[in-house]
Amino acid sequence: MGSKILVVGAGYVGLTSGICLASLGNEVVCVDNNIEKIDLLQAGKLPIFEPGLLDLLNKGIDRNLLRFSTDLIKHAKNANFIFLCLPTPPLEDGTADMSFVYHVVDEISPHLNGSAIIVNKSTVPLNTSSEIKSRQLNKAVAVVSNPEFLREGSAVTDFLNPSRIVIGADERSSAIKVAALYAGLEERVFITDPVSAECIKYMSNGFLAMKVSFINQAARFCEAIGADVVSVSLGMSLDPRIGRSFLNPGPGWGGSCFPKDTAALAAAALSKQSPMTLVEQAANDNKLHQNEIARLITKEIRDLGKTAVSIGVLGLSFKANTDDTRDSPALKIIELIEMSNVACDIRAYDPEASIENRATFSRVDSISEAIIGSDLVIILTEWPEFALFPPESYASLMKGNTIIDTRYVLDNSLFHQCGLRVRSMGRVQS
Ligand code: UGA
Repeated sequence: MGSKILVVGAGYVGLTSGICLASLGNEVVCVDNNIEKIDLLQAGKLPIFEPGLLDLLNKGIDRNLLRFSTDLIKHAKNANFIFLCLPTPPLEDGTADMSFVYHVVDEISPHLNGSAIIVNKSTVPLNTSSEIKSRQLNKAVAVVSNPEFLREGSAVTDFLNPSRIVIGADERSSAIKVAALYAGLEERVFITDPVSAECIKYMSNGFLAMKVSFINQAARFCEAIGADVVSVSLGMSLDPRIGRSFLNPGPGWGGSCFPKDTAALAAAALSKQSPMTLVEQAANDNKLHQNEIARLITKEIRDLGKTAVSIGVLGLSFKANTDDTRDSPALKIIELIEMSNVACDIRAYDPEASIENRATFSRVDSISEAIIGSDLVIILTEWPEFALFPPESYASLMKGNTIIDTRYVLDNSLFHQCGLRVRSMGRVQS
């Protein structure tokens, strides 16, 4: 049996990390102050949708490697490793709210044994590791930064097949002990100092957000000059220095990480008089892009020349394979469409999104229900089932003939053969 790990926070990062660490043979207890969540997990059920996680949860419970509890202090006393997986939401000025992290750190500090290692996975302001260390009553307790690079929707794969496991520690011995928890993945371990590890996390998300903003800006430029952004992206990506990933244009980036982390990085950089203007611009451009996508949609709606328009929306989550709608571009764009002064009746379908009806749309249970009788269909999330739904069925169910594909997932020529028109920003229309 592996080491005793306490994971504090059974949110998306804590659950994925705890369950995957147990699947690597470690003994793990996940603690959260939400008793309903803990009851659910103890019963082998998940409060979130994440492919592959439910199976590993039940395997961990069956192997007696995974437990859930609300008793933080009891488990802190026995733990060799305390993984902090707590929320760090943005404050009004963009900086991260550290109250959840420091509250837990102060609560457990008097109870930790001298060989305990605090491992921080929360995305935190730079130099938080040393702040956590300075708050320890027992100075023998080590603090290590081990940021997560998990994408929602493929978090299990990302955890078990990581591009890198970044470990930032002042003492190499602590880094080696944390690395040993990732049995079988040692060759992916990258050891550095704590503040550099924290920085790697912010810079990675900042860079990826910038990459997506770049291709979205390119989509608008392609629209202006009549080029095809899908071809442009593909052609660019053949250069291995550029690469294929995070070069898919879309309705703007969202989710619980990019918006929060780019704001925090920009604020941290400004506070050190060392502005990260590229990241600031990426975030500003993301807002502009969503407005431009909404403008394209609104124009299509007005061009229908109707006083009331029936719209089928496909996709509400911030991307495919997740139920998460936090900062979802889909919701933002629906909001912007509603401000267009055309009466719109919107029926929206998403296979997993964790929201109910809103004032702006009614939620339905299938693609067919969303698109039947619609004047216009808008694809806002790239769920594979939207592209797999036969073009003939779109054609026979819809009243109108235009689909706005903000995710570039449809095979346009197949749809044209069925008499449908597919409209995307910066996509050549045949
Ligand atoms: C992101 C990072 O990818 C993870 O490495 C990181 O660990 C995580 O944030 C975090 O900080 O916790 P996530 O927010 O789950 O993961 O989602 P991504 O897959 O990165 O997508 C972010 C947004 O960019 C989504 O709205 C997505 O639709 C958009 N996107 C992404 C594009 O529009 N085009 C792309 O080519 C890629």
